[in-house]
Amino acid sequence: MLDPEQYWELAFRGLDPETYDFSTMRPDQNLEDYCSQYLAPGASILDLGCGGGRNSQYLAQHGFKVWGIDISHAAIELCSKRFAFSNLSGDFQQGIFNRIPFDNHSFDGLICIAALDHVTVDIARETLTEIRRVVVHEGTALITFDPPETDEDILDEAEILADGTLKFVRGNQDGMLFHRYQDDEIKLLIGEHRIISFTNSQSGGRIVICR
Ligand SMILES: C[S@@+](CC[C@H](N)C(=O)[O-])C[C@H]1O[C@@H](n2cnc3c(N)ncnc32)[C@H](O)[C@@H]1O
Repeated sequence: MLDPEQYWELAFRGLDPETYDFSTMRPDQNLEDYCSQYLAPGASILDLGCGGGRNSQYLAQHGFKVWGIDISHAAIELCSKRFAFSNLSGDFQQGIFNRIPFDNHSFDGLICIAALDHVTVDIARETLTEIRRVVVHEGTALITFDPPETDEDILDEAEILADGTLKFVRGNQDGMLFHRYQDDEIKLLIGEHRIISFTNSQSGGRIVICR
């Protein structure tokens, strides 16, 4: 049985930016609107849970200053190589959501795409406190949550933790956490008064802009 860190390490290990076909990893479709509506040109953005860097790359190519944090060393190495390979400037370092290794008010904006539902609710709550800490006063964050449905066939591969989070204990997703947030639970987690926009995508994902 793997732990979440091991799961994410394995997920990104061995991917090489020189040979990997990044065209299969398009940036998140909500980024363009977030950038045009909420960010000034050249703003500084933290990509929290940056993964393979598809969204970081979009931001850098559109003139933003980019930092990325991920629990997976392999993902950080991949992003760094990917940026070097593409001649882009960005700063990537290993770190965890609920202990973001930056000073208060370091960023004009922040994105956390398809990532916050991969920790327990307690960690997600702590992460939101951290997000507020590292973003400037009145700055915004784009946070997305995957659709809450999970393929019933794979449910027997998971344990259900006390807060309802699935912890996969075997199979392809061994070690991965996934919390199937309902809309109300997201609003409670973030605090309704902090939400500027809450949208449901056609595929069932939830897109939140918050302060
Ligand atoms: C589904 S991937 C999404 C990656 C990226 N945001 C994207 O949209 O392509 C979730 C990411 O969250 C990262 N992650 C999971 N738990 C984390 C934690 N506790 N702290 C930091 N990163 C974490 C994983 O390593 C992974 O890169």
